[in-house]
Amino acid sequence: MCSRKTSPNALGSLGMQSLRVLLVFSICQLICGYSEKERAHELMFKYPLIDGHNDLALQLRILHNNRLSMIDLYNISKVATDISRLQAGHVQTQMFAVYVLCGAQEKDAVRLTLEQIDVVRRMCTENQDFELVTSTQELRNSEMRHKIACLISIEGGHSIDSSLPTLRMFYQLGVRSMALTHTCNTPWAESSSKIYNVFQNRQNNSLTQFGKAVVEEMNRLGMIVDLSHTSWDTALAALQHSKAPVIFSHSSSFSICNHSRNVPDWLLRELKKNRGIIMVNLNSQFVSCRKEANISHVANHFDHIKKVIGTESIGIGGDFDGATSFPEGLEDVSKYPAVIQELLKRNWTEDELADVLRRNFLRVFEEVERVRDELHSSPPSEVQISMKEVQNPCRLVLRPPDPRRGAYGQTHSSTAELRSPGFLILASILLLSGIYFN
Ligand SMILES: *[C@@H]1O[C@H](CO)[C@@H](O)[C@H](O)[C@H]1NC(C)=O
Ligand SMILES: *[C@@H]1O[C@H](CO)[C@@H](O)[C@H](O)[C@H]1NC(C)=O
Ligand SMILES: *[C@@H]1O[C@H](CO)[C@@H](O)[C@H](O)[C@H]1NC(C)=O
Ligand SMILES: *[C@@H]1O[C@H](CO)[C@@H](O)[C@H](O)[C@H]1NC(C)=O
Ligand SMILES: [Zn+2]
Repeated sequence: MCSRKTSPNALGSLGMQSLRVLLVFSICQLICGYSEKERAHELMFKYPLIDGHNDLALQLRILHNNRLSMIDLYNISKVATDISRLQAGHVQTQMFAVYVLCGAQEKDAVRLTLEQIDVVRRMCTENQDFELVTSTQELRNSEMRHKIACLISIEGGHSIDSSLPTLRMFYQLGVRSMALTHTCNTPWAESSSKIYNVFQNRQNNSLTQFGKAVVEEMNRLGMIVDLSHTSWDTALAALQHSKAPVIFSHSSSFSICNHSRNVPDWLLRELKKNRGIIMVNLNSQFVSCRKEANISHVANHFDHIKKVIGTESIGIGGDFDGATSFPEGLEDVSKYPAVIQELLKRNWTEDELADVLRRNFLRVFEEVERVRDELHSSPPSEVQISMKEVQNPCRLVLRPPDPRRGAYGQTHSSTAELRSPGFLILASILLLSGIYFN
């Protein structure tokens, strides 16, 4: 490794003094160690990172109630993400999740999502080092201007309340990606998690007709389908149904750590057929299946996925501020170069790493845009979910007030159904599960 720096001449003609040899050797080690670190930084300077997943917006809500005026975006305490650390980590584009808890499903998930979109939009438009982007062209321009580009992604299909018009309006607000589920099933797609006891009765129908319509509408709009958090069956169905490549924005390899959020090899092969990418999650729980992890564990995921589907299918989705424990040496967004340094050590080429850092994601996003362009003559979908499927007692059917009942906006179930014992039991279960898991 050090040979290029230690020619016999460099050791001097006296040669035999072991102390001197040792000294030269140590200096060489220092230089070589340093140069690998340098190489990682140089590479990331040339190919700055596009990261697939970050939950800073959730922390802004939890810690500051979204009051941006109270914080210094360059130095935010108690979180792993701020502008100074993004810059130090060579993060050029960050996909920011606008995530709302599953407990909001059938309640005010849409309002909460709008508020999270607002906070990301404000953060990314009121600060000169951030820039909100909605296309690959804008993303590239933003790199040339040395800005950190923000992409907005919805984390969980419950945010659209089973409504394609709502999905379209989110697109208008700049949302360019949506995870079909978070940890709860939606009426139309299945989660990898079973902690929320909702919509569990669906059999062999992991992506319903309406779910397929959601994927089609996302293809038509040019929104990236994200399969992190869905069940494997749902992921497979979506992969097969989508006309555009999809992403797993923050998932790792199930072969290396058998967490249900990770992706098994057979599904990785399907992803490759779809030309999509998996953006490796750095959260310790997904990396080592334990609370403790280190950079070797992380690199093992990269090596394994490379072996199964090749470097052209890999990206990085750190999950900072969404998870609680991160590997030693990867505590915040300034630490990404350590991952690249480790992969260089494991003989990944600069070309492969440039793909992982940004070119693979750009390729996927460009294909998503191309599919959108090809579908430009298709009209917006008018597919609607049935009231029976959506089972949401908060849904109103808009209609003029009925003078005989003397009330505005009764819920659709305000008639016979509400009085049926089956409905009341269902409503109570839904209510209780909502409260219990909040
Ligand atoms: C960030 O803020 C903390 C106080 O919240 C301060 O102690 C620290 O020095 C600041 N760091 C930088 C780099 O400005
Ligand atoms: C589920 O449906 C698919 C086709 O739609 C079928 O091939 C498969 O056998 C079904 N599985 C079960 C368990 O019913
Ligand atoms: C993961 O592997 C462990 C040990 O082999 C096993 O006990 C556990 O059930 C597995 N988990 C999953 C999700 O397959
Ligand atoms: C990472 O941890 C594993 C044990 O879990 C250990 O075998 C390995 O040497 C560690 N690697 C580094 C670089 O610390
Ligand atoms: Zn997540």
